Amino acid sequence: MKVGVFDSGLGGLTVVDSITKLINGVEIFYIADTKYAPYGEKSKEQILKQSFLITDYLIKNHNIDALVVACNSATSAAIKELREHYTNLIVIGTEPGLKPAINQTKTNKIGVLATKATLNGTKYQDLHKTLSLNKQIEILEEPCLGLVKKIEDGLINHHETYSMLENWLKPMKEKNVDTIVLGCTHYPLLKDVIKKILGDEIILIETGNAIAQRLKDLAIKEEINLSKNNSLDLFYTGIINTNMIKSIISDYTKCEKIELRENDE
Ligand code: DGL
Repeated sequence: MKVGVFDSGLGGLTVVDSITKLINGVEIFYIADTKYAPYGEKSKEQILKQSFLITDYLIKNHNIDALVVACNSATSAAIKELREHYTNLIVIGTEPGLKPAINQTKTNKIGVLATKATLNGTKYQDLHKTLSLNKQIEILEEPCLGLVKKIEDGLINHHETYSMLENWLKPMKEKNVDTIVLGCTHYPLLKDVIKKILGDEIILIETGNAIAQRLKDLAIKEEINLSKNNSLDLFYTGIINTNMIKSIISDYTKCEKIELRENDE
Protein backbone atom coordinates (compact mmCIF):
# COMPACT_ATOMS: atom_id res chain seq x y z
CA MET A 1 0.00 0.00 0.00
CA LYS A 2 1.33 3.42 -0.97
CA VAL A 3 0.50 6.04 1.62
CA GLY A 4 1.08 9.78 1.31
CA VAL A 5 1.43 11.57 4.64
CA PHE A 6 1.86 15.29 5.14
CA ASP A 7 2.27 17.96 7.77
CA SER A 8 3.77 21.45 7.92
CA GLY A 9 6.96 19.91 9.26
CA LEU A 10 8.22 17.25 11.63
CA GLY A 11 5.04 16.71 13.67
CA GLY A 12 3.43 14.24 11.30
CA LEU A 13 6.39 11.90 11.84
CA THR A 14 4.83 11.06 15.21
CA VAL A 15 1.91 9.65 13.19
CA VAL A 16 4.29 7.85 10.78
CA ASP A 17 5.92 6.26 13.82
CA SER A 18 2.55 4.87 14.96
CA ILE A 19 1.72 3.62 11.43
CA THR A 20 5.01 1.76 10.95
CA LYS A 21 4.72 0.17 14.40
CA LEU A 22 1.20 -1.13 13.69
CA ILE A 23 1.22 -2.02 9.99
CA ASN A 24 3.53 -4.11 7.88
CA GLY A 25 3.54 -3.47 4.14
CA VAL A 26 3.25 0.30 3.77
CA GLU A 27 5.33 2.43 1.45
CA ILE A 28 5.18 5.88 2.98
CA PHE A 29 5.87 9.13 1.12
CA TYR A 30 6.08 11.92 3.67
CA ILE A 31 5.95 15.62 2.87
CA ALA A 32 7.09 18.20 5.42
CA ASP A 33 5.91 21.52 4.01
CA THR A 34 8.48 23.46 5.99
CA LYS A 35 8.48 26.38 3.52
CA TYR A 36 4.98 27.24 4.73
CA ALA A 37 5.30 26.16 8.39
CA PRO A 38 3.73 26.82 10.78
CA TYR A 39 0.30 26.08 9.28
CA GLY A 40 -1.44 26.83 12.56
CA GLU A 41 -0.87 30.54 12.17
CA LYS A 42 -1.98 30.65 8.48
CA SER A 43 -5.43 31.28 6.98
CA LYS A 44 -7.80 28.51 5.90
CA GLU A 45 -7.27 29.52 2.24
CA GLN A 46 -3.47 29.24 2.49
CA ILE A 47 -3.62 25.83 4.20
CA LEU A 48 -6.22 24.60 1.69
CA LYS A 49 -4.00 25.62 -1.23
CA GLN A 50 -0.95 23.82 0.22
CA SER A 51 -3.01 20.69 0.99
CA PHE A 52 -4.16 20.43 -2.64
CA LEU A 53 -0.66 21.10 -4.05
CA ILE A 54 0.79 18.37 -1.82
CA THR A 55 -1.93 15.83 -2.60
CA ASP A 56 -1.54 16.43 -6.36
CA TYR A 57 2.21 15.94 -5.99
CA LEU A 58 1.76 12.68 -4.07
CA ILE A 59 -0.69 11.30 -6.63
CA LYS A 60 1.35 12.31 -9.69
CA ASN A 61 4.74 11.27 -8.39
CA HIS A 62 3.94 8.32 -6.13
CA ASN A 63 0.53 7.05 -7.18
CA ILE A 64 -0.70 6.83 -3.59
CA ASP A 65 -3.65 4.66 -2.47
CA ALA A 66 -4.24 6.60 0.75
CA LEU A 67 -3.61 10.07 2.12
CA VAL A 68 -3.04 10.72 5.81
CA VAL A 69 -3.34 14.38 6.76
CA ALA A 70 -1.04 14.12 9.78
CA CYS A 71 -1.83 17.64 10.87
CA ASN A 72 -4.77 18.89 12.92
CA SER A 73 -4.55 22.37 11.36
CA ALA A 74 -4.69 21.06 7.76
CA THR A 75 -7.46 18.62 8.68
CA SER A 76 -9.47 21.49 10.09
CA ALA A 77 -8.93 23.65 6.99
CA ALA A 78 -9.07 21.10 4.19
CA ILE A 79 -10.35 17.59 4.99
CA LYS A 80 -13.86 18.15 3.64
CA GLU A 81 -12.60 19.63 0.37
CA LEU A 82 -9.93 16.91 -0.03
CA ARG A 83 -12.51 14.15 0.42
CA GLU A 84 -14.90 15.78 -2.05
CA HIS A 85 -12.18 16.26 -4.68
CA TYR A 86 -10.15 13.02 -4.43
CA THR A 87 -12.97 10.54 -4.43
CA ASN A 88 -10.75 7.56 -5.38
CA LEU A 89 -8.39 8.09 -2.48
CA ILE A 90 -8.67 6.91 1.13
CA VAL A 91 -8.38 10.18 3.06
CA ILE A 92 -7.73 10.12 6.80
CA GLY A 93 -7.49 13.23 8.96
CA THR A 94 -6.25 14.10 12.45
CA GLU A 95 -8.46 15.68 15.09
CA PRO A 96 -7.89 16.61 18.73
CA GLY A 97 -8.95 13.67 20.93
CA LEU A 98 -11.62 15.47 22.95
CA LYS A 99 -13.84 12.41 23.29
CA PRO A 100 -11.15 10.08 24.69
CA ALA A 101 -10.16 12.91 27.05
CA ILE A 102 -13.70 13.17 28.35
CA ASN A 103 -13.77 9.42 28.89
CA GLN A 104 -10.57 9.51 30.92
CA THR A 105 -10.77 12.66 33.04
CA LYS A 106 -11.63 12.20 36.70
CA THR A 107 -11.66 15.88 37.65
CA ASN A 108 -13.85 16.80 34.63
CA LYS A 109 -11.32 19.46 33.66
CA ILE A 110 -9.52 19.09 30.36
CA GLY A 111 -6.78 21.17 28.75
CA VAL A 112 -6.51 21.36 24.96
CA LEU A 113 -3.20 22.38 23.39
CA ALA A 114 -3.65 23.02 19.68
CA THR A 115 -2.92 25.67 17.06
CA LYS A 116 -4.98 28.79 16.41
CA ALA A 117 -6.15 27.34 13.06
CA THR A 118 -7.43 24.17 14.75
CA LEU A 119 -9.13 25.89 17.68
CA ASN A 120 -10.85 28.43 15.42
CA GLY A 121 -11.93 25.82 12.85
CA THR A 122 -15.63 25.00 12.46
CA LYS A 123 -15.11 21.32 13.18
CA TYR A 124 -13.49 21.88 16.57
CA GLN A 125 -15.92 24.66 17.49
CA ASP A 126 -18.91 22.42 16.71
CA LEU A 127 -17.47 19.52 18.70
CA HIS A 128 -16.69 21.81 21.62
CA LYS A 129 -20.23 23.19 21.57
CA THR A 130 -21.76 19.72 21.60
CA LEU A 131 -19.50 18.49 24.37
CA SER A 132 -19.92 21.59 26.51
CA LEU A 133 -23.62 20.89 26.62
CA ASN A 134 -22.44 18.40 29.17
CA LYS A 135 -21.95 21.17 31.76
CA GLN A 136 -19.85 19.02 34.05
CA ILE A 137 -16.86 19.13 31.74
CA GLU A 138 -14.73 22.26 31.64
CA ILE A 139 -12.44 22.63 28.63
CA LEU A 140 -9.49 25.05 28.80
CA GLU A 141 -7.81 25.85 25.49
CA GLU A 142 -4.41 27.23 24.53
CA PRO A 143 -3.38 28.16 20.96
CA CYS A 144 0.34 27.75 21.82
CA LEU A 145 1.66 30.56 19.61
CA GLY A 146 5.26 29.98 18.55
CA LEU A 147 5.53 26.46 19.95
CA VAL A 148 5.73 24.59 16.62
CA LYS A 149 8.64 26.80 15.56
CA LYS A 150 10.56 25.86 18.73
CA ILE A 151 10.09 22.16 17.92
CA GLU A 152 11.12 22.63 14.27
CA ASP A 153 14.24 24.42 15.53
CA GLY A 154 15.07 21.43 17.73
CA LEU A 155 14.59 23.40 20.96
CA ILE A 156 12.60 20.74 22.81
CA ASN A 157 14.72 20.79 25.95
CA HIS A 158 15.41 24.52 25.81
CA HIS A 159 14.52 26.77 28.75
CA GLU A 160 12.45 29.08 26.51
CA THR A 161 10.24 26.18 25.41
CA TYR A 162 9.90 25.11 29.05
CA SER A 163 8.79 28.53 30.20
CA MET A 164 6.31 28.93 27.32
CA LEU A 165 4.71 25.65 28.34
CA GLU A 166 4.90 26.47 32.03
CA ASN A 167 3.00 29.75 31.43
CA TRP A 168 0.21 27.91 29.62
CA LEU A 169 0.05 24.80 31.79
CA LYS A 170 0.38 26.24 35.31
CA PRO A 171 -3.07 27.93 35.20
CA MET A 172 -4.52 24.62 33.97
CA LYS A 173 -2.88 22.79 36.88
CA GLU A 174 -4.29 25.32 39.33
CA LYS A 175 -7.75 24.63 37.91
CA ASN A 176 -7.28 20.93 38.57
CA VAL A 177 -6.93 19.79 34.94
CA ASP A 178 -5.94 16.10 34.92
CA THR A 179 -6.05 15.41 31.15
CA ILE A 180 -4.30 17.25 28.32
CA VAL A 181 -5.28 16.80 24.68
CA LEU A 182 -2.24 17.08 22.41
CA GLY A 183 -4.17 18.66 19.53
CA CYS A 184 -1.20 19.16 17.23
CA THR A 185 0.94 16.32 15.88
CA HIS A 186 4.10 18.18 16.92
CA TYR A 187 3.19 18.13 20.60
CA PRO A 188 3.77 14.43 21.43
CA LEU A 189 7.44 15.39 21.02
CA LEU A 190 7.02 17.52 24.17
CA LYS A 191 5.51 14.80 26.34
CA ASP A 192 8.49 14.64 28.72
CA VAL A 193 8.57 18.42 29.18
CA ILE A 194 4.81 18.51 29.85
CA LYS A 195 5.19 15.74 32.43
CA LYS A 196 8.02 17.64 34.10
CA ILE A 197 5.64 20.58 34.56
CA LEU A 198 2.41 18.73 35.38
CA GLY A 199 3.74 15.54 36.96
CA ASP A 200 3.84 11.93 35.73
CA GLU A 201 0.22 11.29 36.61
CA ILE A 202 -1.11 13.73 33.98
CA ILE A 203 -3.11 11.96 31.24
CA LEU A 204 -1.88 12.90 27.75
CA ILE A 205 -4.16 12.21 24.78
CA GLU A 206 -2.59 11.76 21.36
CA THR A 207 -4.12 10.37 18.19
CA GLY A 208 -1.31 8.65 16.23
CA ASN A 209 -2.36 5.11 17.22
CA ALA A 210 -6.03 5.70 16.35
CA ILE A 211 -5.03 7.00 12.90
CA ALA A 212 -2.77 4.00 12.29
CA GLN A 213 -5.59 1.63 13.30
CA ARG A 214 -8.05 3.42 10.98
CA LEU A 215 -5.58 3.12 8.09
CA LYS A 216 -5.10 -0.58 8.75
CA ASP A 217 -8.85 -1.22 8.94
CA LEU A 218 -9.49 0.64 5.67
CA ALA A 219 -6.62 -1.15 3.89
CA ILE A 220 -8.10 -4.50 4.89
CA LYS A 221 -11.63 -3.42 3.93
CA GLU A 222 -10.49 -2.14 0.50
CA GLU A 223 -8.32 -5.27 0.05
CA ILE A 224 -5.17 -3.23 -0.60
CA ASN A 225 -1.98 -5.28 -0.92
CA LEU A 226 0.10 -5.18 2.28
CA SER A 227 2.69 -7.72 1.17
CA LYS A 228 5.81 -5.51 0.88
CA ASN A 229 8.13 -4.36 3.66
CA ASN A 230 7.68 -0.92 5.15
CA SER A 231 9.61 1.93 3.57
CA LEU A 232 9.75 5.67 4.21
CA ASP A 233 10.78 8.40 1.77
CA LEU A 234 10.92 11.92 3.18
CA PHE A 235 10.51 15.14 1.23
CA TYR A 236 10.58 18.74 2.47
CA THR A 237 9.90 22.10 0.85
CA GLY A 238 11.96 24.56 2.92
CA ILE A 239 14.63 23.60 5.44
CA ILE A 240 14.55 20.65 7.81
CA ASN A 241 16.38 19.67 10.97
CA THR A 242 17.78 16.21 10.21
CA ASN A 243 18.82 15.59 13.82
CA MET A 244 15.20 16.04 14.83
CA ILE A 245 14.07 13.58 12.12
CA LYS A 246 16.50 10.98 13.48
CA SER A 247 15.22 11.46 17.02
CA ILE A 248 11.66 10.60 15.88
CA ILE A 249 12.21 8.05 13.10
CA SER A 250 15.33 5.91 13.01
CA ASP A 251 14.88 4.35 9.62
CA TYR A 252 14.19 6.08 6.31
CA THR A 253 15.28 5.53 2.73
CA LYS A 254 15.67 9.06 1.41
CA CYS A 255 15.37 12.68 2.48
CA GLU A 256 15.08 15.13 -0.42
CA LYS A 257 14.10 18.73 -0.99
CA ILE A 258 11.25 19.26 -3.47
CA GLU A 259 9.41 22.20 -4.98
CA LEU A 260 5.65 22.16 -5.21
CA ARG A 261 4.40 23.84 -8.36
CA GLU A 262 0.86 24.68 -9.37
CA ASN A 263 -0.50 22.73 -12.36
CA ASP A 264 2.60 20.53 -12.31
CA GLU A 265 1.89 18.02 -15.08
N1 DGL B 1 1.45 19.58 13.26
C1 DGL B 1 0.43 20.45 12.86
C2 DGL B 1 -0.88 20.28 13.56
O1 DGL B 1 -1.17 19.17 13.94
C3 DGL B 1 0.79 21.78 12.31
C4 DGL B 1 1.32 22.75 13.24
C5 DGL B 1 1.69 24.01 12.56
O2 DGL B 1 2.31 23.97 11.50
O3 DGL B 1 1.33 25.08 13.09
O4 DGL B 1 -1.65 21.18 13.70
